Amino acid sequence: MIVYYCGKFLEKSEARFSPDDRGLVFGDGVYEVVRSYGGRLFRWDAHVDRLAYGLEQLRISGADLPSLAGVVRRLLHENALDKAAATIYLQITRGVAPRAHEFPPAGTPPTVYLDAKAFSPKTAAQQNGVSVIILPDQRWARCDLKTTCLLPNILAYQKAREAGAAEAVLSRDGVLLEGSRSSMLFVADGRITAPPLNNYVLAGVTRQAALELARGEGLPAAIEPFFEVDLPKLEEMMMVGTTSEITPVVMVNGRPVGNGSPGPLTRRLQTAFRHLMDTI
Ligand code: PDD
Repeated sequence: MIVYYCGKFLEKSEARFSPDDRGLVFGDGVYEVVRSYGGRLFRWDAHVDRLAYGLEQLRISGADLPSLAGVVRRLLHENALDKAAATIYLQITRGVAPRAHEFPPAGTPPTVYLDAKAFSPKTAAQQNGVSVIILPDQRWARCDLKTTCLLPNILAYQKAREAGAAEAVLSRDGVLLEGSRSSMLFVADGRITAPPLNNYVLAGVTRQAALELARGEGLPAAIEPFFEVDLPKLEEMMMVGTTSEITPVVMVNGRPVGNGSPGPLTRRLQTAFRHLMDTI
């Protein structure tokens, strides 16, 4: 695999991260995962905007974001993924400096790393739906930033996998916010809802696309919190994200959602999403 590391295209084994990289030592960096559909990137600009927002909020400067589109094109080409389904991983850390909690000296270049690999969508999950479990949200108070500091997400996801579930839905103060690695949409009273975006929720690129599709399809959709106590009213639920696309959730904590199979609004959105993919 050819990757991009600090200005160079290299074999992955040649990309030697420094033991002093702030990403390794502190999780001091941001990342993005972007889908490529046969060489066409899904909402590239939205991913770059979110990356820029994260860098600005974390006060990491010096990354040349406009150059990244060209880097991605070359990576897809070098790895013979121009025509394939692929994911691109981008990571920017605060760079290399001896371990100290304060920022490194001004001018320390950020570490920029990208790779691209083939991706197979989970078609059975998208067709039949998945089960999820609810866990307390143990993350920090800036979940709007897509940082590489993912330990609470990883612990939650691992618990879900060990429980035979496809995702952990994180609950804070009785509100279901999002998954450990995906956004969540809810359907109750015939309406799709997405939790309000605040410091506890990532502004998911796929979630935004799904909401636009819902409106385009004339489906009722609103930005509203979904409370855990309202689970008995849940008619449908969707796990959405770059790697999940739109996946029906048919079981929560071992109880069926609605009648336990993917519902009509989920199916409409999945179809609309597929059409959108064909036209990007
Ligand atoms: N995760 N919420 C969280 C906490 C996420 O980590 C992700 C994506 C999403 C969905 O966002 P988007 O639609 O922009 O992919 C929501 C990526 C795919 C990951 O960590 O691998």
